[in-house]
Amino acid sequence: MGSLRVRPFEEADLPDAAAALVEVHATDGYPVEGVSDPEAWLRSDDVLASWVAEADHQVVGHVAVMSPNGEDAVALWIRQSGESPERVAVLGRLFVTKRARNRALGEELTQTATAYAQTHGLRLVLDVMTKDTAAIRLYERLGWRRIGETTHHYGDGQQTSALCYVAPSS
Ligand SMILES: CC(C)(COP(=O)(O)OP(=O)(O)OC[C@H]1O[C@@H](n2cnc3c(N)ncnc32)[C@H](O)[C@@H]1OP(=O)(O)O)[C@@H](O)C(=O)NCCC(=O)NCCS
Repeated sequence: MGSLRVRPFEEADLPDAAAALVEVHATDGYPVEGVSDPEAWLRSDDVLASWVAEADHQVVGHVAVMSPNGEDAVALWIRQSGESPERVAVLGRLFVTKRARNRALGEELTQTATAYAQTHGLRLVLDVMTKDTAAIRLYERLGWRRIGETTHHYGDGQQTSALCYVAPSS
């Protein structure tokens, strides 16, 4: 695989980013609730900023900084830190297609989102499903701190265990 880069998401990326997401759902079951409308999921109103990862000019990954929307990590972090809710945001929609992995694109996407949050005075938190072990290794390697455990409810009465993390302080 040749040239790799992370850059801001552009409107024209939507079909390719959605295709990459569908691929990741097939290989990894992420997101756990499925992707019936991948473009809508990527363009959620909660997105504050987002980026894509490219390999050889093809979109192979994505990440977003999002407004809180019921994530357990948000409530946990506000309770533990006393941080004001306006200063907390969520890292979400992180994925890299299988064939583009292990080349630090996941790391660069995460660090790009974290730098954006720091610039905007936001502390990032996230919920990650316990089954998503590569993501957990990535966050811990980058200094994210586990702040609790929870259960993620989805679909028709299904549930799975999840972990809550906060980004390192700047
Ligand atoms: C989590 C995820 C985004 C990581 O993407 P990635 O691009 O492979 O991430 P990185 O390349 O930065 O790190 C992955 C591994 O490659 C290693 N690596 C990075 N650059 C490398 C290089 N040049 N040579 C060899 N190994 C390398 C890292 O050390 C890391 O090792 P580990 O698996 O032992 O922890 C990807 O696995 C994914 O999309 N998973 C499914 C979706 C998901 O779970 N999302 C999380 C939502 S909360």
